[in-house]
Amino acid sequence: MDAISVIRAKRDRQELTGEQIDWVIDAYTRGAVADEQMSALAMAVYLNGMTRAEISRWTAAMIASGERMDFAALARPTADKHSTGGVGDKITLPLAPLVAACGAAVPQLSGRGLGHTGGTLDKLESVPGWRASLTNPEMMRVLDEVGSVICAAGDGLAPADKRLYALRDVTATVESLPLIASSIMSKKIAEGTGALVLDVKAGSGAFMKNVEDARELATAMVELGTDHGVRTVALLTDMNTPLGLTAGNALEVRESVEVLAGGGPADVVELTVALAREMLDAAGLPDADPAKALADGSAMDVWRRMVAAQGGDPDAELPRAREQHVVTAPASGVLTRLDAYAVGLSAWRLGAGRARKEDPVQAGAGIELHARPGDTVTAGAPLLTLHTDTPDAFGYAEAALEGAWDIAAPGTPHEPTPLILGRIG
Ligand code: URA
Repeated sequence: MDAISVIRAKRDRQELTGEQIDWVIDAYTRGAVADEQMSALAMAVYLNGMTRAEISRWTAAMIASGERMDFAALARPTADKHSTGGVGDKITLPLAPLVAACGAAVPQLSGRGLGHTGGTLDKLESVPGWRASLTNPEMMRVLDEVGSVICAAGDGLAPADKRLYALRDVTATVESLPLIASSIMSKKIAEGTGALVLDVKAGSGAFMKNVEDARELATAMVELGTDHGVRTVALLTDMNTPLGLTAGNALEVRESVEVLAGGGPADVVELTVALAREMLDAAGLPDADPAKALADGSAMDVWRRMVAAQGGDPDAELPRAREQHVVTAPASGVLTRLDAYAVGLSAWRLGAGRARKEDPVQAGAGIELHARPGDTVTAGAPLLTLHTDTPDAFGYAEAALEGAWDIAAPGTPHEPTPLILGRIG
């Protein structure tokens, strides 16, 4: 086996054999295949695609490159959720404790934000004292005692993906369906969850800009999960508008706590409850009632215990940015569009996100929305509040918002886009 013949086969549109895939992933993880060779192979996959059998074998090889966690010793069934990422997507924060309050164990290995989408770990790190890095025994203890844990994935899970994802990032090969599906699913399957619910987003603020591409990605990931014995379903959800009324780390934690207290924006509650029902169904707990667990305070109780078990103080005041700037509505009428990508980019420029993996984020930075599509707005009244510790950023953040909204004449009827666009599985 050698790298050149594997690259040549994919370049010439041949289906790779299982042996070729196993060899190339293993050799790349060991350093025997060089980055430039893997870059060429990734580009050949980007251009020529992969069959279902190739994607499945590629995923299995990436799982086999590292450890596989095992939750069989837990008394509860396990369920996890993965979102392909969006703006204001704080759903993991209320969802994990909610599903745990309903009887499942939720081992939620999460990531940091990069670019215009936020990351769950960055959001939670705005809670004073909270720790994202846990050892495997610590993670198991929190899961066993509390029922849910949200932490960083250890280096041992799918190390081949870690190397390959970093390489794809700098070789224009991220946007490849087989490579995205195998990257996400190798980590989720190695994590050892019994049930998995995917929130695959479509729209301006998402990876997949239209529903057809999102459906294709969701179908590939559901097939991969099923092939590897994980009960997997996907919801296709809208990401043309930010979720909820906040984008930014501490701002989103505050909104998540409102949801856990039985309030919060209607779209965040709707998606949290819909995903919880799917996770509980897939975990074999179809009679659990997540709406009740939000209303009766049991989800909030798990949240408080989960935060405390990871060193955080659930009663501590969350950080606030030093400076605020209000953006007002330029006209009176009905807000018919508020673009998720523009809001995400603007929050990023305010300091809520990072440009490089090593950059710090500002806990208090971000954007509060004072209206959502369908709301009536008045000329001169606040539309958005921008938050940052670095006021020089306000100009760049406002520039990112150029053309981000449409306001129609007062009284114009507005048909809201449904939040949940489809289900696969
Ligand atoms: N997230 C991942 O983990 N991998 C990808 O390829 C894309 C998004």
